[in-house]
Amino acid sequence: MGYKSGRHFLQIPGPTNVPERVLMALGQSTIDHRGPEFAQMTLEVLDGLKKVFKTNGTVVIYPSSGTGAWEASLVNTLSPGDHVLMFETGHFAALWRNVALKVGLEVDYVPGDWRHGVDPDVVKKKLGEDRDRKIKAVMVVHNETSTGVTSRLPDVRKAIDLAGHPALFMVDTISSLASIDYRHDEWKVDVTVGCSQKGLMLPPGLGLNAISNKALEASKSARLSRSYWDWEPMIRDNKMGFFPYTPATNLLYGLREALRMLFEEGLENVFARHRRHAEATRRAARAWGLEVLCLNPEEFSPSLTTLSMPAGHDADVLRKVILEAFDMSLGTGLGKLKGKVFRIGHLGHFNDLMLAGTLCGVEMGLSLAGVPHSRGGVAAALEFLSSR
Ligand SMILES: Cc1ncc(COP(=O)(O)O)c(C=O)c1O
Repeated sequence: MGYKSGRHFLQIPGPTNVPERVLMALGQSTIDHRGPEFAQMTLEVLDGLKKVFKTNGTVVIYPSSGTGAWEASLVNTLSPGDHVLMFETGHFAALWRNVALKVGLEVDYVPGDWRHGVDPDVVKKKLGEDRDRKIKAVMVVHNETSTGVTSRLPDVRKAIDLAGHPALFMVDTISSLASIDYRHDEWKVDVTVGCSQKGLMLPPGLGLNAISNKALEASKSARLSRSYWDWEPMIRDNKMGFFPYTPATNLLYGLREALRMLFEEGLENVFARHRRHAEATRRAARAWGLEVLCLNPEEFSPSLTTLSMPAGHDADVLRKVILEAFDMSLGTGLGKLKGKVFRIGHLGHFNDLMLAGTLCGVEMGLSLAGVPHSRGGVAAALEFLSSR
């Protein structure tokens, strides 16, 4: 590829665009992770993360990708052979299931069509049928990054309560945290899994667990093997602002700055901005005549939109044309959606003109790639963005 002038458009649904303020923070000199300055930073970021998770409970930060934080949620709370209830919402639910199987859990995996979120009625039915209380955890991906479908967590919580079932509630918020309304304590979530490279506007490299007292209690008798992921030494050392091993110091600088930015904007404003950009994107899609993969309007994702290609057209060809012509990366179709869909990420550090540029790139790419569509998607989005 030749020289590309101007800024690359990174419009995959994570990793997302890292703001200048965060990049500058990341570039500071690394300090002693056993010194007083470091301890102060740890305490500040842990406190800030609690506000983002909306919890008064415990938060831990691993130097890891999100997959590590998935594993941590399981090995700290469960024992070999324990049964867990999961839902096939898409590619990431399938991957978390694989982690569960590999660490030695039995997974009851409710099939799905990758176009809907978790059905609360099915949760209630499954738990109601479990008279022996064999199911130890209900595991839900809040926002399926492969499909652009957001499960209705308050209704899932209600379903667990209606069934009167004691299972732990575990939620993956990897592409919803700091982008979509999320309430760890209010929704009585026991372990929330998050990571750095999406709504938190950081590069990849930090995995997060928010932990309820019930999950902490479960960890005392949980027998799955754990060492690196063990909450106990982490929580013990974090109290003083330290870690049981070398932390990702520079990413924590970035996290501190990103949290300050989120609080300056205000979390509710952040969520409203994401909803608004998602609506503008769907209006563009409708005008183009491209189908949004998510079938239930109540489950449209605020952080990304997945669009289906017309029959006979390969989404990856379109993505390649757009990358080469306009230097913009869009999300590929994952798993069984390969070639059939493309994903527009509109989360994290983002504004109206970035969205306008993104949608222009898509509309021009559709023409260049010869994909049948109607013009006017960008116009529809701009009309929405410029209305009060
Ligand atoms: C919803 C969701 N869960 C889990 C993961 C896995 O995270 P990682 O790739 O950081 O291990 C991703 C990654 O995109 C994701 O979108």
